[in-house]
Amino acid sequence: MLKANHLRYAYPEAGHKHTVLQDVSLELHAGEHVALMGSSGSGKSTLLNLLGGIDTPAGGEIMIAGSNLTQLREPQLTLFRRQHIGFIYQQFNLIPTLTVAENMLLPLELLGVPRQQQQQRLQQWLEAVQLPTRGSAFPDQLSGGEQQRVAIARALIHRPALVLADEPTGNLDAQTGTLVLDLLFTLAEREQQTLLVVTHSKAVAERAGRILLLRDGQLHTDGQTVTW
Ligand SMILES: Nc1ncnc2c1ncn2[C@@H]1O[C@H](COP(=O)(O)OP(=O)(O)OP(=O)(O)O)[C@@H](O)[C@H]1O
Ligand SMILES: [Mg+2]
Repeated sequence: MLKANHLRYAYPEAGHKHTVLQDVSLELHAGEHVALMGSSGSGKSTLLNLLGGIDTPAGGEIMIAGSNLTQLREPQLTLFRRQHIGFIYQQFNLIPTLTVAENMLLPLELLGVPRQQQQQRLQQWLEAVQLPTRGSAFPDQLSGGEQQRVAIARALIHRPALVLADEPTGNLDAQTGTLVLDLLFTLAEREQQTLLVVTHSKAVAERAGRILLLRDGQLHTDGQTVTW
């Protein structure tokens, strides 16, 4: 489903002095749930941005759902992202001026899904993330856990092949984080989506089927058991 080979990346702003990702290869199978760990600054968010087509690697290749991401340029890359990728961020990143319903429906709106179909999906997803009556609320009227549940619906509603979550429970207390994470894993499983979750939490990582560890610009543990 996803295959990345020999990825390299350095931030242009850093003058290519510091190569964040030196040689990263990984393979995710369809429907697989994988955790990505590594110390702060090890390049986890950078890797997610490459896999999600937000940044372009300096070298290497990324194949997702049959497309070679590294050969796409704008506007094809934007279209690819809209169709095939769902993002969940630590800071929720909901649009404050849009209601819960409008935030959730944004991916469908961008893909030009007819309004009637959008409305049908909306109620299903409000219920799926246990917010059946909150569609007309604004993000600042919700708790952190509720906002992240909206963000989960927004990431999954267009049925992307790959869901990338960057520390999705990092801003939540432990109990809320566990509930939100359960929902994310359960819904991704129901939708048969491939899920890559960045986390600092061993409990979160253990919820995944496999753990990858990023260290010194390389993934050391793909397919192997992590030793702490
Ligand atoms: N926009 C940027 N410009 C220059 N350097 C950057 C930029 N963003 C990140 N970096 C650097 O790239 C490296 C990797 O950053 P990244 O955000 O991917 O780490 P991370 O593993 O996600 O860390 P954390 O766990 O703290 O979120 C760090 O050294 C960071 O300082
Ligand atoms: Mg990060």
